[in-house]
Amino acid sequence: MSQLSQRHLLGIKDITKKDIELIFETADNFKDVINRPIKKVPSLRDVTIANVFFENSTRTRLSFELAQKRLSADIVNFSASTSSVKKGETLLDTVNNILAMKVDMIVMRHASPGAPHYLAKHIKANIVNAGDGTHEHPTQALLDAYSIREKLGSVEGKKVAIIGDILHSRVALSNIFALQKLGAKVMVCGPPTLLPKYIANLGVQIEYDVEKALQWCDVANVLRIQLERQQIKYFPSLREYSLYYGINKKMLDNLKKPIVVMHPGPINRGVELSSDAADSDHAIILEQVENGVAIRMAVMYLLAEKVN
Ligand code: CP
Repeated sequence: MSQLSQRHLLGIKDITKKDIELIFETADNFKDVINRPIKKVPSLRDVTIANVFFENSTRTRLSFELAQKRLSADIVNFSASTSSVKKGETLLDTVNNILAMKVDMIVMRHASPGAPHYLAKHIKANIVNAGDGTHEHPTQALLDAYSIREKLGSVEGKKVAIIGDILHSRVALSNIFALQKLGAKVMVCGPPTLLPKYIANLGVQIEYDVEKALQWCDVANVLRIQLERQQIKYFPSLREYSLYYGINKKMLDNLKKPIVVMHPGPINRGVELSSDAADSDHAIILEQVENGVAIRMAVMYLLAEKVN
């Protein structure tokens, strides 16, 4: 029986192509499970998991929780906004108190890049990074790559353009690592102010013209403008951003070739993606969400095998 090379999932950077393939093969089985009338298996019956969210989430949090329920795990949910973090408790004290209640695995979202890596040095439980600031969002990248594999048969050799606010995006970095490990060609596209300088060192193509990026790619992964992380103005206005970088259905139809449109959500409709594009046959946005449950089931199932 194959196992993951790591006991935590902190980032895609830390895992191997073999790990990703194992997660995908395991997710294939769980995708069958969640499409059955009885969607539950007893795989994690004796495992207790805490979902520790210091930042807002809809998809990731619900997807992890459903995945845990489908695997029959015991779960507790922690939300920083209603917790004793508000009274000054540290991250480590908070997590150690949760672990004292005999919790085996922590799924954590935190605004600080590196927060799950810090925890991994201090606690014994398995950790899954559900997004750490602008750093990584590994399960999002796994479900994105899995969705490409499902739609196009494989990821190897495919051209994927990641379009939008790359600078503030943890999804972009994890996607670049995952896609490159699986043999895809990756382009990033956006206004120069939203493309970080280090990106050129990651072996990706850089494009400032969204029409050229769309012509080049098989898959356009469109990212949200993360206004909540922008302390200064990176472009004159949302209206101008939408004019130069917004993608609509007419642009997609005019390409006269197949193109798959993805978005990790939440979508700013009418900014990076028009409603007619988001809801078109080009888009696989809700398939991504469905696949997220199977991918997260696979990740937690495989990590639970590596409990101390
Ligand atoms: N894609 C994603 O991480 O969405 P949420 O912020 O809603 O979890």
